[in-house]
Amino acid sequence: MYSNYNGDVMTNETYDRFVERYESGQLPWADELPPPEVIDLVPTLPPGRALDLGCGYGRTAIYLAKHGWMADGIDFVEQAVDEAARRAAVAGVAEQTAFYAGSAATPKEDHAVYDLAVDIGCMHSFSDALLEEYRDSLKRVLKSGAIYLLFVHIRDESQEGRPHGIAKGHVETLFADGFTLDRVEHGSTQVEDRPPWESAWYWFKRN
Ligand SMILES: C[S@@+](CC[C@H](N)C(=O)[O-])C[C@H]1O[C@@H](n2cnc3c(N)ncnc32)[C@H](O)[C@@H]1O
Repeated sequence: MYSNYNGDVMTNETYDRFVERYESGQLPWADELPPPEVIDLVPTLPPGRALDLGCGYGRTAIYLAKHGWMADGIDFVEQAVDEAARRAAVAGVAEQTAFYAGSAATPKEDHAVYDLAVDIGCMHSFSDALLEEYRDSLKRVLKSGAIYLLFVHIRDESQEGRPHGIAKGHVETLFADGFTLDRVEHGSTQVEDRPPWESAWYWFKRN
């Protein structure tokens, strides 16, 4: 059971799954540095204010803060945001970062304050209804011209049991409203010794 900053109570399978992963330490994303796609983006943009959606231990927000950005990180697992804040302090960027526990579909800012949003592996586990809420919130909090960098796993419809990732083509449809797709790179991702998944990086611009 999880209580977000609005006091709403959210119980869901995804939350339980992530809490279990943090408790068991099965965290293939717990590296110190963000992926190369983030590192390569940083020198192309003037520093501003960024939002790290589903921030985990805050590697993206911390990296951005070390490169002149003010960065907020949101994650619904409290243990993750506590550790992100601790890591930011160790990295000397406590003042340039803010981490809070909450739903990535409802970041707490109510108007367009961000120049950049990054989502690495968060929204691809949302329901369709939550995805629309998330998209609408992003439209609200991103400035016109802001960049939105997204990494997702694409669902393999032939997979048995609980399908993993977002349906093929859904990202493009969802963000046709309010965003322009600058670039997409399709690839595959392998975690531990499991079979690889189809995945993709998207670079959007807020209209
Ligand atoms: C695959 S991990 C990646 C973490 C981080 N983006 C990184 O690259 O290090 C996905 C993260 O999204 C968070 N998450 C998933 N659904 C969420 C939601 N509805 N609201 C907030 N955080 C969520 C999980 O707790 C987890 O920390």
